[in-house]
Order: sequence, then C-alpha cells, then structure tokens
Amino acid sequence: MIIEEPVPASGPGMIIRSCRVAVRYIPAEEAVLRDLSFTVEAGERIALVGANGAGKSTLLLSLSGMLLPAEGRLSVAGIPVRRDRLGELRKKTGLLFQNPDDQLFMPTVEEDICFGPRNYGMDERTLARKLEAVQKNLGLEGLASRTVHRLSGGEKRLAALAGILIMEPDLLLLDEPGSFLDPAARRNLIGILSNLKTTMIIATHDFDLARRLCTRTLVLQGGRIRVDSPGSALLEHEELLEPWGL
Ligand SMILES: Nc1ncnc2c1ncn2[C@@H]1O[C@H](COP(=O)(O)OP(=O)(O)OP(=O)(O)O)[C@@H](O)[C@H]1O
Ligand SMILES: [Mg+2]
Repeated sequence: MIIEEPVPASGPGMIIRSCRVAVRYIPAEEAVLRDLSFTVEAGERIALVGANGAGKSTLLLSLSGMLLPAEGRLSVAGIPVRRDRLGELRKKTGLLFQNPDDQLFMPTVEEDICFGPRNYGMDERTLARKLEAVQKNLGLEGLASRTVHRLSGGEKRLAALAGILIMEPDLLLLDEPGSFLDPAARRNLIGILSNLKTTMIIATHDFDLARRLCTRTLVLQGGRIRVDSPGSALLEHEELLEPWGL
C-alpha cells in the first residue's frame, strides 16, 4: 500500500515550503543538507551565502528537483519535490548552474536559448519575439549563431542566463550569476534582475551583488541554515559572518 505523504500547507503566495529536509548525494553517506526548515513568499529575493562546501549549490539543485530530499517535506510553487512531479517542477523553476558548461548543450547559442521554450511548445512567433528581447537585454545579439563550446566564460554565462530568463519561471535559482562577467555585464545583470518581480534565490560570494538585489539573507554552514535575516545588512558585518566561515 502506498501512503501518500501530506503535502505541506502552502498559503497564498508561498513559493517554497521546506520542512526538516535532508539531502544526500550518496544514500549510505552523511546528508549534505540537514534539518532545513524555511519558507519563501512570492517576490522575495534571497541571498544564499556560505563558505565553499556549505551546501548552497546542493540546495538549489534540490529546489529544482534535480536532487530529491532523502528526508522531510519540500514543496515548490505548491508542487511536492518528488520523482513523479518532476515534469511540473521543471516548468516552475529555472536553475542557473554554477558552471555554465553544465548548462549549455545545443550546438549554437540561439538553439540553446530556444531549447526550453520549444520543448514546452511555445509558438515560433512568440519565441522569436522573446528571443530578440532577451538577447538585447543581455547584450547577446552578436552571438546567436556562435558555437556554444567556443564562447568565453562570460559569454557562456550570459547564454545560459538567457535560456533561463526566456522561460519566465516562477522561481529563479541562480548559482553565482555574476561570475565570469565583466563589470559592465555584471551591472547590467543586476539591473535586469532588480526589475524582475520573480521570486529568486541567489547563491553567491559576491556580497555587493547580494546587497544590491536581495531582500533577505540565508547563511548556510555545514548543510544547515545558521542565520535567516531580513535585508542584506548582515553582509556588511564581518564579525557576524566569521562564525560561519565567511
Ligand atoms: N556530486 C556530489 N557527490 C557527492 N558529494 C557532493 C557532490 N557535490 C557536492 N558534494 C558535497 O556536498 C557539499 C556541499 O557542496 P555544494 O556544492 O552544495 O557547496 P557550495 O556551498 O555550493 O560551495 P561553493 O561555494 O564552493 O560553490 C560539499 O561537501 C561537497 O563536497
Ligand atoms: Mg556552489
């Protein structure tokens, strides 16, 4: 007999509900994320900070359904993060991988950006309009026909971002979005993200970017949430971050 786990209650506007979640990469080994309980409301922009290995990327992978919780209950946009709901979860979340090489896989930039929308059946006219807009916003106009694996690091980052933003997901999960970008492209990205109403979680070591964008800060250490604080003022206080290896 299959006993259906109760779906965590999600109030109106609740995007993430995590109740005592643990995540493992390898079943027999220690959990990388432990006892994670938090909620996120629609429209929040969260800075996810923590030392190398704290579990930031792992948390983003879990929220996109790429890693399933081993314990606890996790739901995103009202959908439980479970194997049988992955199709729905993929439509609701956009995950920007820490390493753009993990993201890009189509031969050209344009094909890569269009892969997601085509896969979900967007009509070609709408797609052409959205493609032009996202390429213009990110300064990618000249790169459409370029071969993905011959791009520079920053160009790859922007192409990967375009492929996420064009999907207009309910939840953006951005792993070091500013990395590889030159100062102008980084400033432009901050401008674009700050104009979006989308809920986002930004894992980053770039505290300046976090301060400019985020409405709330989560500090991870050893796979646990150690601090959950409104705003980003916390990031200006070294003495408050030191205990968490930052
Ligand atoms: N594929 C994997 N298999 C097993 N363990 C992994 C895997 N990926 C990451 N880990 C482990 O999980 C822990 C958390 O890693 P994670 O990549 O989430 O950290 P992070 O906070 O994103 O670090 P960084 O700031 O370096 O990006 C680390 O101890 C890491 O070694
Ligand atoms: Mg990481």
